[in-house]
Amino acid sequence: MSPWLRVCPLDDIPRLGARVVHTEIGDIAVFRNAEDEVFALADRCPHRGGPLSQGIVFDRRVACPLHGRTIHLESGEAQAPDDGCTRKYRVRIEKGVVHLNLQS
Ligand code: FES
Repeated sequence: MSPWLRVCPLDDIPRLGARVVHTEIGDIAVFRNAEDEVFALADRCPHRGGPLSQGIVFDRRVACPLHGRTIHLESGEAQAPDDGCTRKYRVRIEKGVVHLNLQS
């Protein structure tokens, strides 16, 4: 079975926003930045579990809505001086459709 899960057309994810994918391994936030790059992270801030999907996306980062820590979308790591890391997942766009790899 393919590890790739079809999420939605890229256009269904707002620029500088996110869409939550509910999976059996937990909620995953799929982000789209201003350059139409997509990233996927577990929808839990490494600080106290805030919903990163509701944060503010800028560049390749998201600011957590609860206490404002900045998380790098590529790595899932908190920006120094904060520490912590949330799980990242691979995503790809095929013919305008976003796919998520749950095994990555
Ligand atoms: S829960 Fe994200 S900054 Fe505190």
